[in-house]
Amino acid sequence: MFRSRSIHLSLHIHKNPAAMAERAAHLLADCCEQAIAERGVFNLALSGGSTPIPLFRLLSSSDWAERLPWEKIAVYWVDERCVGPEHPQSNYGVARRELLGNVPATRFYRMKGEADPVDAALAYEKLLREHFNLGPGEFPRFDCVILGMGDDGHTASLFPGEPGLQECERLVIDQYVRRLKTDRLTLTLPVLNNARCCLFLVTGEEKHDVLSKALNLLSEPSLPAHFVRPPSGDLVWIVDDAAARGPEK
Ligand code: 6PG
Repeated sequence: MFRSRSIHLSLHIHKNPAAMAERAAHLLADCCEQAIAERGVFNLALSGGSTPIPLFRLLSSSDWAERLPWEKIAVYWVDERCVGPEHPQSNYGVARRELLGNVPATRFYRMKGEADPVDAALAYEKLLREHFNLGPGEFPRFDCVILGMGDDGHTASLFPGEPGLQECERLVIDQYVRRLKTDRLTLTLPVLNNARCCLFLVTGEEKHDVLSKALNLLSEPSLPAHFVRPPSGDLVWIVDDAAARGPEK
């Protein structure tokens, strides 16, 4: 039976990661202003990987460090590697070094990658339920979720072929990723799709194919990133020319 639905998709193509970071920073500032005006807080969830780093550094720069009301911004994580906060692979550690340690942010809540993955996932779910005052069956509604995408189409730590993508009740899961031979902690798809804004940042020609698939909202979703389409939120892709154009033929 046909179900009418709207997906608010916007695609921004910029020449390089620095231009992407400028666009993303302004979009974040707009989301933040609206969230604080309406609810007094901006609930932001960060992904790891390398793509967000230019944005983190821009927000830490003298032009931006004072522009966001960090005392009203609550920072959470989309996913985490199962390592301690000082480990170079820690998503929290990267965000702390590249952003949070350089701005007057005090409200950030990391996933405990150093803990047992099962316990850490349960603990983070408990934290989210308390912070968002959730009842049974409810999901947190982040104002903005910053996402990346791997060249296999994974996003957060939801990977192709892994069961985590099918999780529809829990908020946070521990996920053994066979491809990486390691455990990960991740928000689940229902949490991502409950956001007011899902903001993808994608660079590099090697991601052109999966980007083309993820942007084809008329085809049945196949890749994890393709399943991210918030029904009551904005879906924003900020990409560079290389990802948009792909490798020279
Ligand atoms: C992580 C991220 C992951 C990332 C993609 C893209 O913990 O690695 O959350 O989903 O966004 O792997 O990574 P890059 O930005 O490094 O390409």
